[in-house]
Amino acid sequence: MKIAVLYGGISGEREVSLSSGKGIINALKAKGHEVIGIDFDPEHLEEIIQLKVDLVFIGLHGKLGEDGRIQSLLEMLKIPYVGSGVLASALAMDKAKAKQIFDMNQIPVAKSETYTLLDKQGTDSIVTNIKETFQIPFVIKPNQEGSTLGLSIINDEKEIYDAVNKAFNSDNTILVEDFIKGKELTVPVMGSPGNEKALPIIEIIPKNSYYDYESKYAHGGSEHIVPAKIDEQLTKQIQAFAVRAHQALGCETYSRVDFILSEKNVPVILEVNTLPGMTPTSLFPDSAKAVGISYEDMVEQFVKLSI
Ligand code: DAL
Ligand code: MG
Repeated sequence: MKIAVLYGGISGEREVSLSSGKGIINALKAKGHEVIGIDFDPEHLEEIIQLKVDLVFIGLHGKLGEDGRIQSLLEMLKIPYVGSGVLASALAMDKAKAKQIFDMNQIPVAKSETYTLLDKQGTDSIVTNIKETFQIPFVIKPNQEGSTLGLSIINDEKEIYDAVNKAFNSDNTILVEDFIKGKELTVPVMGSPGNEKALPIIEIIPKNSYYDYESKYAHGGSEHIVPAKIDEQLTKQIQAFAVRAHQALGCETYSRVDFILSEKNVPVILEVNTLPGMTPTSLFPDSAKAVGISYEDMVEQFVKLSI
């Protein structure tokens, strides 16, 4: 097949996507496809149309890549692409909206509030409201961002002001959420609509105090335990929650669902990533490997599920 791989892009996760794209391109070539890699910015749309490809593999992360916008353009151009459609992508990218849907589907979520910066409004009133609403420790993050960019864990009230401003640098809406102490887990999901299966759960043990950007992408930045050492019943429950979350948002082909397993053994969902990282340190490929699916075979399965 003739496949265009879009990677790079202009979001805060550009560097991650450069690495994901390289992996995806090599895998598709190894499977014998004709591959055209495109470091994407919207000016390249004309090029994509003229290439007359059979399929677009979106190796982008974050804004404009993972949030439904590029998917919408491809729909209009009638070019088939890998992964979730417009609505599911947009919903998953909006953490607060996605959490409402998880909650409606009986998947436990942490208590949270969103705050939107209005024209000319300073952040002081928002900081005051946060202080009145949340008890330390809690998390402040941009509502639409990935790879923990702009995220802070608040352990002292003095940190709130800077954390709010940092999160507003990435997005006009921020999400403030109770901090759940526990194990960091993630569950890859793949399959055709209605037939999705969860892959083995991964427990992430970051070298830093939490799974931040450095722990995610530096070699040796975190340890992945696959499958996570969790009893069978709880494993099944978490995997079922992951598939339910994927389906509730209407995701397609693949996604990766992040959880914290609280100290009381409650799996609290954080988010669904519709275009999860495919870098050498990424989680989805690690879990696939644990059930004997190589990186190349995994990418080829995504292609097969998309045509
Ligand atoms: N947002 C990054 C790419 C991930 O979820 O893997
Ligand atoms: Mg994410």
